[in-house]
This record gives sequence, C-alpha cells and structure tokens, in this order.
Amino acid sequence: MSGRPTPQRVLEAEPLPEGLRGSALLTGSPYVQYQYGYPHKTAYRALTPARRVDEVWAAEDKRHLSLYVHVPFCEMRCGFCNLFTQAAPVESAQVRFVEALERHARVVRAALGTASFSRVAFGGGTPTLLPPPLFARTLDVVERTFGAALARTPTSVETSPTTSTDEHLAELEARGTSRLSLGVQTFLEAEAMALARPQLRADVEAALDRIRARRFATLNVDLIYGIEGQTPESFVQSLEAAQRWAPEELYLYPLYVRPKTFLGKRAGAWDDFRLELYHVGRDWLRSHGYTQRSMRLFRRAAANVPEEPPYSCQDDGMVGLGVGARSYTRALHYAWEWAVSPGAVRGLIDTYAATTEDELGWARHGIALDLDEQRRRDVILSVLADGVDEQVYLGKYGRDVLSDFPLLREALDVGLLRRDGAVLRLTDLGRERSDALGVHLQSAAVTTRMRSYEVR
Ligand SMILES: C[S@@+](CC[C@H](N)C(=O)[O-])C[C@H]1O[C@@H](n2cnc3c(N)ncnc32)[C@H](O)[C@@H]1O
Ligand code: SF4
Repeated sequence: MSGRPTPQRVLEAEPLPEGLRGSALLTGSPYVQYQYGYPHKTAYRALTPARRVDEVWAAEDKRHLSLYVHVPFCEMRCGFCNLFTQAAPVESAQVRFVEALERHARVVRAALGTASFSRVAFGGGTPTLLPPPLFARTLDVVERTFGAALARTPTSVETSPTTSTDEHLAELEARGTSRLSLGVQTFLEAEAMALARPQLRADVEAALDRIRARRFATLNVDLIYGIEGQTPESFVQSLEAAQRWAPEELYLYPLYVRPKTFLGKRAGAWDDFRLELYHVGRDWLRSHGYTQRSMRLFRRAAANVPEEPPYSCQDDGMVGLGVGARSYTRALHYAWEWAVSPGAVRGLIDTYAATTEDELGWARHGIALDLDEQRRRDVILSVLADGVDEQVYLGKYGRDVLSDFPLLREALDVGLLRRDGAVLRLTDLGRERSDALGVHLQSAAVTTRMRSYEVR
C-alpha cells in the first residue's frame, strides 16, 4: 500500500478534484429506494409469450437453490408497509391459499427435476398468522414436496410479536428451524402508534421471551429509524431494550414512506433525520459487539452461528412459492402481479387460490435479463453486500469490471468504495449511501420501466 490516504480520509481532509465536486453520487438524499434485489419488481411486466416453468429452469444449475415461501397475510396493515399482504383475512381464505400453495409446490417441484436447496425462507406478510395446523401444513409443503428437511437446511421464518405463539414456536423448534426474525420496529408504544402499527411493549417482550426459551440459533430483530417523534435517545432506548435478548442479528431499516400506504397518504416530515439516527444506531451497535454487514444488517461478532452450505444470491437461483413470491433464474425473473391497495391485493390472492395446477406451472409476469443485465445484477448485489472482486468478475465474464461500470471508478474516487486487494468494498460513507448507489447502478432500461409502473 502506498502512503496515500484512504478515499474516506481524502474526503474529510482535502477538497475533491474540480470534476468530482458535484458528483451525483454524493448529492441528494441517501434514501431513494431499498435495493434488495435487482431488477426491482416494478420493472416486471407481462411476459409475451408466457413461459413454462420447466423450460425456464431446464438449463439452470440447480445444486444450490434457495426456496422462498411467501404468506400474504397479516393481523393488520401497518401504516408504513407496502409489502404484498392482506390484513385480517378470514380463515377460509387462508385455507384456500394453503391449498393453492400445495398445488403450486407440486407443479414447480416436478418442473425443476433434480435440484437441491441450500436455504429456505418463509416470509410475508406474516407466516405465523396462519393458525397452527395450517402453518404446519405450510412447513410440510417444503419438507415433503420439496424434500428440504428444515433441520438440515438453514431456514428463516419471519414473525411478529402477537402471532409468534408458543404453538408456532414449538412446531418450528421441533423441525430444527435455524433463524427467527421478529418485526419489532420500536419498543416505544408512542412510536409504534406514529407508524400506525399499534403495538404493546409487553407483547414484544413476551414474544422475545418465548423465542429465547426455545432453541433457535439466530434471533433477528427488525427496527425502524426515522419515525415521527423518534429521537437519538429514543432510538438508543430501543437498541438497549433489544439487547436484553442479545439478538444474533439486528436489521436497522430507514423508514421509507411509500405510495398507497397509510403514512404515504398523510403529509409528514420524516426525511431529514434518518441519516443522523443511522449514525447513532450504527455507532451504538459497533460499540456493543456488532459488526456491520451491509447498510441494514448488523451481526453480533461473538454469535455462535453455524456454518451454512454455499449459496450466493448473485449466482444461485431462487424458487418462489405463493402469490407474492418472486423466482430468479439467470435469465428470467418472474412473479405474480403485485399490488398494495387492499382490494387489489385481495383480488390477486383470490385469483391465485382459484388457479389450477396446470396454470400454476406458467410464468406470465416478469423480466428477462440479457447478459448485460446479468452482469449488472451481479455487480449491484455484490457491491451492496461483501464487495465486487475484480478478479472474480474477470474470471466469470472475461471483462474488466471498471470498464464495464465506470461508475464504480467514480465511487472509488469520491470515497464511496475502497480497494481491499482485488475487492472493491463500501466505505462507511458508501454504506450509508448504498441505497442511492444501487439506484445509480441500475440500467436506463430498468429505470424507465420502473418510472412508468403504476402501483395498484
Ligand atoms: C415482512 S416484515 C417483518 C415480519 C412481520 N410482518 C412484522 O412486521 O412483524 C419485514 C420488515 O421490513 C421492514 N419494513 C417494511 N416496510 C418498511 C418501510 N416502508 N420502511 C422501513 N422498513 C420497512 C420492517 O422492519 C419489517 O419488520
Ligand atoms: S410490517 Fe409486517 S405486520 Fe406490518 S403490514 Fe408489513 S408485513 Fe404485515
């Protein structure tokens, strides 16, 4: 290494060169859009022609797949949430959904042929809203139809305070589930009210006690920052409260106020203090034994989490089951249509529940990824997580990553990335601006599709 200061220090110590002072990478809000996958689902459109799922998967490497089961139900619709979910469904609707899920699983499993699964996740919505017998049936879909034994496959389940009943947890523990993720958002009742998610602290604490009374290798707690009325002190109160249960992981989510949600329909002044709260939360967790893995994910350094079999979200496929789940192959991402408004969500769930097994074996909505988009996806997901390895990229694609993505060079120059051997990694500044960086790395074609999407 030369004695050159790191890009981070260049930023602090010296003015940037003339041409970079106005770099779009450093201006504007860091909070543009959560880039947890690429392309975003608002870039999906009707596929013409529709594709048969067996053909879509025929040429794929199926040795390390991940399986995602999406349950589209919740007790209530939180004021901030635009996930695909129906609040307070009647039980018959849940039964019809699980019956359709069974049909869906059968047809997709047959279409895949020989395949093995390195990861399983149950998300939503809130999977534990399903009454215990239906919940057990949903777990059976994975174990029996897909042959993914939950005790031998890293398995994560999302849950909420009042739906994580002892019966649900006993079932999950008996099957050897490795990770439970509890949506807490805040321990302060006034802040939960401001999120339009009425929630009692006593219920949150009782859920954490119930989870910790059982054997799950990883407990994750989701918290949100940027809530109206939240302060650095009150955010730290939530972090301290969570520490009583020593979660192996914490996800800190900046509040995004989205169209068609309850908060999105109200005027509010959330925007400006998220970055300040992010710094407070990040520094607090770092000084309390957590290492930061991405902008949102913090992992307790001393946590004794078992080694997991290989899975790389950049390279390995994902099989989605359920009306709200996406599936990813190298060249095609597909899903059912998506909505936020209650009537549209209910309509899509009803349609799914009435769909025949044969029809569930088709991909009708999604986006095809050409080679350029495949490389772009690889780079976006890598840069936002563990970093982009120039040598690995060269080996995979026979090309130079900095020539393919000159924006990465600019990100290096302005201090969002640093070199760590052959790996380009986010700096602290890059992490806090990683949602915006992800958007800059999108292709123009995907951005155009996203802009013309109308949320239903
Ligand atoms: C499927 S939910 C978690 C499980 C469960 N449904 C619950 O809410 O308790 C996923 C997480 O995404 C985060 N989230 C969802 N919408 C968000 C938004 N608009 N802004 C910030 N975080 C959000 C929340 O922290 C939430 O816990
Ligand atoms: S945050 Fe969780 S409980 Fe609330 S509506 Fe979204 S998925 Fe459902």
